[in-house]
Amino acid sequence: LRLTPLNLLYQVDAAYAGSSLVCPEFQESVGVSHLEVFHSFNFNMHKWMLTNFDASCVFVRDRRWLAASLGADWHMYSNAFSAGGLVTDYRDWQIPLGRRFRSLKIWFVLRSYGADGLRAYIRRSVKLGERFARGLEAAAPGSGPLFDILTGPAFALTVFRMAGRDSDERNGRTSRLYEAVNATGKLWATSTRLDGTTLAIRVMTANRLTREEHVDAAVELFVATAEKILAETT
Ligand SMILES: Cc1ncc(COP(=O)(O)O)c(C=O)c1O
Repeated sequence: LRLTPLNLLYQVDAAYAGSSLVCPEFQESVGVSHLEVFHSFNFNMHKWMLTNFDASCVFVRDRRWLAASLGADWHMYSNAFSAGGLVTDYRDWQIPLGRRFRSLKIWFVLRSYGADGLRAYIRRSVKLGERFARGLEAAAPGSGPLFDILTGPAFALTVFRMAGRDSDERNGRTSRLYEAVNATGKLWATSTRLDGTTLAIRVMTANRLTREEHVDAAVELFVATAEKILAETT
């Protein structure tokens, strides 16, 4: 693998899943061995690393690339410290000149949890996601599986839909399931359309406070609601 030539800066936006790089066993699923062909890498601690919004961590191979394209080289900003290379002028790494101070909250998270604590948290989220997916898979009320799992469980996320004879039936049931479950207010799932056509529900288990009993209750809620929809639509 060779670094892509720098006509265009290629950044990996590992917004959510990037946090799992803290665990060696997940590094390959994030594609760590491919990172060497990219120029920069970003992940959001506010997504899956216990930090309040917002805290995006960007790693760049050579900061001069950013300064060359985004730097504000105006006379009024020049001073002896910048000119002498004594300070890093982050205003040159981004479009706005000012930036909010986020380091301290990140420092608190790192010091509070430590590397082992962060790994334990990520592993726990992933395990809960697997528990959720296994629960869905086990739901087969006689006539076959209630759900099709479309992606995952991966990175604590499972993407699934209700089973059905054809695309219209599956989408119709999945849409009803999604609306009904969210309307209970007991959990919050999101939805997506795969290939523009397949409606799917997304559930993730990365919340710090989520426990096994919550996951089991979520499975029960999805199963009970899906069984009701099935009874009404067959
Ligand atoms: C791949 C990806 N990039 C970027 C973002 C934006 O994240 P934020 O606006 O929270 O920094 C998201 C949010 O869901 C995302 O999934």
